[in-house]
Amino acid sequence: MTIVHEATSENIKTAAQALANGRLVAFPTETVYGLGALASNNTAVASIFTTKERPQTNPLIVHVANIEAAEKLAIFSDTARKLAAAFWPGPMTLVLPKHMNALVSDRITAGNTTIALRIPAHALAQELLKTLGQPIAAPSANRSGHVSPTTAAHVAADFATRDVFILDGGPTTHGLESTIIAATGDTVTVLRPGSITQDMISDALGREVDSDNRVTQTPNAPGQLASHYAPNALLRLNATSINSNEALLAFGANVPPHSGPMLNLSPTGSLDEAAANLFSALRALDTANVSRIAVMPIPKEGVGIAINDRLERAAAPRNA
Ligand code: TXA
Ligand code: MG
Repeated sequence: MTIVHEATSENIKTAAQALANGRLVAFPTETVYGLGALASNNTAVASIFTTKERPQTNPLIVHVANIEAAEKLAIFSDTARKLAAAFWPGPMTLVLPKHMNALVSDRITAGNTTIALRIPAHALAQELLKTLGQPIAAPSANRSGHVSPTTAAHVAADFATRDVFILDGGPTTHGLESTIIAATGDTVTVLRPGSITQDMISDALGREVDSDNRVTQTPNAPGQLASHYAPNALLRLNATSINSNEALLAFGANVPPHSGPMLNLSPTGSLDEAAANLFSALRALDTANVSRIAVMPIPKEGVGIAINDRLERAAAPRNA
């Protein structure tokens, strides 16, 4: 049965034990909640796919406590080490060549020769990883294709009829999934934008990196599919006037006239605040049974690029 547990140190120990026994544990990271399984346990990893109804072809991110644990699983180039030093622990995932003998279930990589690794900064995630002492495979803790969870309640709503041990660490800070960077040798490609922006990556490496994740997307990263992160309601983006049958997802102070429900991602126009609120707002409008959402324009700069990326996927035709 899926139950939300307070994040006491006692419950974190119980969660680590549950993972060691092959159960699924949902836990907060600073980006979104993850649905975790012991990475070396083939059956546990398989149950992530069935629980999420996730296609077997979509590989998982492996979470580790520190760089030593990461280096046991993948090959780090000098460039990859620079990125790790700059952004770990934090909201970054590196896609790296996997060590042949890495002790993880083959289901994690879905047949790729690369593996996605992340060291989360969230204190609760760190404590869970350290208590378990082993890598945790964890995609976002939502039904496949649905909006990622930023609270324990979101996770519980998606998996009510399943068997997930949920650790409640409150709302996540960034609210968007990690920036995913493929880093083999000197080649650096952003596969998914996030709160670690293109400029931050360029600064860390002292050179320009590719800025268009749509051009550089890999065919074997289904999270990069056009329709993803979608609420039930239909979205209309860059709306400057609002129709009477639409709810409004606003941004900033200059809200156009509207008659239906309205949520403002950031009344002060802060992109960080908007990122943190985006998925909660989409879920809240779904809960309010809204069927159409008009979204105001959000500047395509800094983390605004990642916000627009998620909105475009949420607005894309659903069976494309
Ligand atoms: O912030 C996050 O990244 C959250 C937290 C829980 O860490 N996790 C997350 O996982 O968003 P998920 O599975 O929802 O998204 C991971 C993305 C997927 O689109 C997957 O296709 C891609 O990473 N991915 C995983 N392994 C890959 C690989 N070896 N090569 C390319 N893409 C990979
Ligand atoms: Mg996901």
